Amino acid sequence: MGKALYSPPVMPSREPLLLDRLDRPIVLVGLMGAGKSTVGRRLARRLNLPFVDSDTAIEDASGLSAGEVFERYGEDDFRDGERRLVARLIEDGGIRVIATGGGAYVNQSTRQLLNDKAITVWLDAPVALLAERTARRPETRPMLNKGDRSQILSSLIEQRGPKYAEAHIRIPSSSGGHSEVVEAIVAALEKHLGLP
Ligand code: S3P
Repeated sequence: MGKALYSPPVMPSREPLLLDRLDRPIVLVGLMGAGKSTVGRRLARRLNLPFVDSDTAIEDASGLSAGEVFERYGEDDFRDGERRLVARLIEDGGIRVIATGGGAYVNQSTRQLLNDKAITVWLDAPVALLAERTARRPETRPMLNKGDRSQILSSLIEQRGPKYAEAHIRIPSSSGGHSEVVEAIVAALEKHLGLP
């Protein structure tokens, strides 16, 4: 006799429902090191959506990394370019996952545009984790190289926290794996979109 085959019950996938309701981009916001790019890429793969990273788009447009643009042209020009780029990404109407640079959502007009035309998701991670992650490639974050990394991150959280808190969804992003964060975002999106 052959072995009895056990087939686990097939759970109907909820993704088609989610994608059916999704009529706008999903935009990840939060501080440097929160995992926006990695989580964003995985979330996009999970939902079968295109992924765009605004820092990479800056790099493609200028031939320089976001950090180099920041250093070479100064913060004001960087912010201005970033604001225009994010606006273009939103206005072209693509439904996708967008990871923004940590300062993009701090800008009042960008924040308003994103909250009107996208679903905004704040990845909220503790300073110790942000400091640990951003220490891995320090050359990519010029803002953190001007003093004590943890202190700079703490004061950025203080300044920016109330703004990030205006996002539609807040996801605590702890040291648990990125896939847990992705699943937490999917669950929060389902709730946000009113899925049964
Ligand atoms: C910045 C975050 C960086 C990059 C730039 C400024 C910020 O992006 O845009 O160095 O002001 O928080 P990441 O959040 O992707 O590191």
